[in-house]
Amino acid sequence: MKFLNLKYKPKSSDLLCLFRVEPNKVSMKKAAETIALESSTGTWSELTTEKKYMQKLAAKVFSIKGNFVKIAYPCELFEKGNAPNILSSIAGNIFGMKIVNNLRLEDIKIPKEILNSFYGPKFGIKGIRKMMKVKNRPLLGTIIKPKLGLRTKDHAKVAYDAWVGGCDIVKDDENLASQKFNQFEERLARSLEKANKAEEQTGEKKAYLVNGTAETKEMMKRAQLVEDLGGKYVMIDIVTSGFSALQTLREADFKLAIHAHRAMHAAFTRNKKHGISMMVLADIARLIGVDQLHIGTVVGKLEGSLEEVFELNEEIERKTVKETKMRLAQDWEKIKSVLSVSSGGLHPGHVPFLIKHLGKDLVLQFGGGIHGHPKGTLRGAIAARQAIEATMQRISLKKYSKNHIELKDALECWK
Ligand code: 3PG
Ligand code: 3PG
Ligand code: MG
Repeated sequence: MKFLNLKYKPKSSDLLCLFRVEPNKVSMKKAAETIALESSTGTWSELTTEKKYMQKLAAKVFSIKGNFVKIAYPCELFEKGNAPNILSSIAGNIFGMKIVNNLRLEDIKIPKEILNSFYGPKFGIKGIRKMMKVKNRPLLGTIIKPKLGLRTKDHAKVAYDAWVGGCDIVKDDENLASQKFNQFEERLARSLEKANKAEEQTGEKKAYLVNGTAETKEMMKRAQLVEDLGGKYVMIDIVTSGFSALQTLREADFKLAIHAHRAMHAAFTRNKKHGISMMVLADIARLIGVDQLHIGTVVGKLEGSLEEVFELNEEIERKTVKETKMRLAQDWEKIKSVLSVSSGGLHPGHVPFLIKHLGKDLVLQFGGGIHGHPKGTLRGAIAARQAIEATMQRISLKKYSKNHIELKDALECWK
């Protein structure tokens, strides 16, 4: 069985993988070939059971440049429409092989034969903008904080203030589900009531992104309840829930947008030498069909002005975030685009920088950056919305804050 052919020209129907490989006491060629065999039809030893007709299914190393290896997988190797199955080959046993010290799946290229076997996003960027009636600017979101512990009534009140202050969407935090202190059904009903009230009061569309993450049957029941009560979104932690659960949710085709939080992703995306890149996670999430996906923020732990010093790893992080965002909006046959969500440690002062680097097809989410505002949630939301308005009008925040006290207070607080 040949798993290495540097003259092989990949077919358009091949699934291509780019790996970063650090061999362990073997040549790069040997390591690359072993990765290709272990992730397709082979195993560690020659086999007496191999059949000639299998050759066409073998993965082929077709490029080796330094630490970077490209492997082509015939699409017939995979079951169409089955995301876990694809990952069990290209992102399965190979990470544990002794023949590599480190291995990272950096990128994948999915052929249309496979793309067309998945649902992809139900709404996509256009559909979200249409549903939320936000034509041009980034959407503004908040996460109810404290992340856990608030009783349902208090949770709904914080959500109401955020919507009235100017948030389009309010989400649960990633680890809120249906704990005793804030049970799902009651939180959903009360928060949707507040969202409707805020819609009437502001004349704007308001959405509640309740976290439906749970055992799959329970998650489906919760999503059904969201749809029955007229909700617009359901949120799911896609990594901790698993890709099968995400496919089950998407393929039930609820009239709901799916907001994907990626909690746990850093267990395998953060180490740039070993694991799986955010780009690949984003591709799988889009393939299965989320409408919004957290992609991180381009602002790191900054000293001085936003434009200044970026340690190397922050530069890499910024590049990853921008590439992921671009990938989520790239043309993929009939698969719709995904709206990127930037969230985590952000405050209104970051808005110009975020829009400069990530554009306006974006959800900007502030947890502490709204609920930590010195004048409270309502004013925090107003400040965040003012920061977006100023940036969309190409006015500096400093100038805009002269006659927008809420923004002025926020810039003061987080300078
Ligand atoms: C989220 O779930 O998006 C985060 O908890 C953001 O919270 P932060 O804005 O306070 O970091
Ligand atoms: C959070 O939940 O604390 C932040 O939003 C982190 O999520 P992200 O890095 O996926 O945006
Ligand atoms: Mg969170």
